[in-house]
Amino acid sequence: MSATLRPEAAAAGPRLLVVEDNDGLRRAMVRALAGPFACVDAEARGDRAVARLQETTEASYDVVVTDLRLPGASGLEVLEAVRQRDERTAVLLLTAFGSIETAVEAMRLGAFDFAQKPVALEELEIRVGKALDHAGLLRRVASLEAERASRRSELAIVGNSPALRTALDLAARVAPTRATVLVTGETGTGKELVAGLVHERSSRAGGPFVKVNCAALPETLLESELFGHERGAFTSADRERIGRFEQADGGTLFLDEVGDMSAATQAKLLRVLQEQEFHRLGGTRTIRTDVRIVAATNLDLPEAIREGRFREDLYFRLNVIGIALPPLRDRVDDVLALAHHFLDAFGRELGRARDGFRPDALARIRAHDWPGNVRELRNVIERAVLMSSGPWIEAGDVVLAGTPGDEGRWAPRLPAEGLALEEVERAVVLEVLARADYVQKDAARLLGISRRKLNYMVGRMGITHERWRRNRAEAG
Ligand SMILES: Nc1ncnc2c1ncn2[C@@H]1O[C@H](COP(=O)(O)OP(=O)(O)OP(=O)(O)O)[C@@H](O)[C@H]1O
Ligand SMILES: [Mg+2]
Repeated sequence: MSATLRPEAAAAGPRLLVVEDNDGLRRAMVRALAGPFACVDAEARGDRAVARLQETTEASYDVVVTDLRLPGASGLEVLEAVRQRDERTAVLLLTAFGSIETAVEAMRLGAFDFAQKPVALEELEIRVGKALDHAGLLRRVASLEAERASRRSELAIVGNSPALRTALDLAARVAPTRATVLVTGETGTGKELVAGLVHERSSRAGGPFVKVNCAALPETLLESELFGHERGAFTSADRERIGRFEQADGGTLFLDEVGDMSAATQAKLLRVLQEQEFHRLGGTRTIRTDVRIVAATNLDLPEAIREGRFREDLYFRLNVIGIALPPLRDRVDDVLALAHHFLDAFGRELGRARDGFRPDALARIRAHDWPGNVRELRNVIERAVLMSSGPWIEAGDVVLAGTPGDEGRWAPRLPAEGLALEEVERAVVLEVLARADYVQKDAARLLGISRRKLNYMVGRMGITHERWRRNRAEAG
């Protein structure tokens, strides 16, 4: 059930939600608040309030006043729904006599204020006024941050294809919420860029943006990286160490390559996400931090789940909002925009300003299918700027991997009965690893793929080699 008093004149004014199951009290509160604050919605049940907060078609509330004990869902659940929806909303909790502990817990969970019942309507008005001032301030700060960030990142994120725009709009829309975001896409499509955008457009923009590459570290190191450790937690732990979850307090934790975590680490991460608290390795003290998670992967997680390599429950925790970045070959217009963008950028950076691309150079760029996506394009243009001798980029300056006619191209001899592609891949990867002395970076360069892609292939092929593991850990 719901009551709405919304005079036309105040359509753009602050929005309030009152959640209270006592009919008389609810009506009185709505009447008292609708005078000064105009737009007041009301719900009698906790679950109805939660459902209303999850409806994202409406603007979010500035202030929510909620009773603690409610039918359907508690005031704490309403608080949680508010925090998920928009962290700038101020929540004022009404508690019955004797539930002070819960009120303290609510403050810790991010409530703005609490009042003990029975509460005088004048007092309620004053407290809501304060909450509104607070919410208004947060909004102003956030919109200033967003403005500044959009000036920065709009410049940095190039492309106007509908597919990219859809992804960026979604990122901007979910940024102010606390919702966990999973960014997916092939290697080099801009997942990290989008993760940064989500942070910059959030009210956490003033806080830290902390990145962890989950693929780069072996299991125990990754856990200590994430959660920290106490002194002596394991043999090489000669001093205590603060983990990334603690470093990211008040900001955003970016879990990159999240699909590459071991089963044990997946289980630990899931528990932390559920309970919002953890221990350092070797420690007993419970640590809580206020962290918003953005994760990214170039793996097909639903497939990894089917194959038993990734936990489905963790996937659902991470994929609250999914942002899928399209591969570059599906956005031809972006290829050209990006090519010009990188030409200008590298022209400036390398002190070699170029006038543009010759038509046949552009034709090569347009025809290529960019398996390494934006990163590959960026590298190709950088190289073209360095190779070009005149003011124009010629077709010959555009060196694409796998283009027929490139010198030194290697072709395997095909047996009459054919050959499984997987076998060829494996043979090539093993050969290259050996030649690169198991140094990730060099092997990836020899293969013309990203380190992540290489990591992924090596993992998939089940190749294990002591030197590979060690080099990988050092590179991380
Ligand atoms: N739309 C874009 N505009 C400008 N630069 C971009 C865009 N998309 C990606 N880039 C650039 O391409 C490179 C790769 O992007 P990024 O690191 O975000 O990709 P990724 O998806 O995280 O890749 P990986 O899966 O390999 O980690 C970066 O240098 C990034 O700045
Ligand atoms: Mg990345």
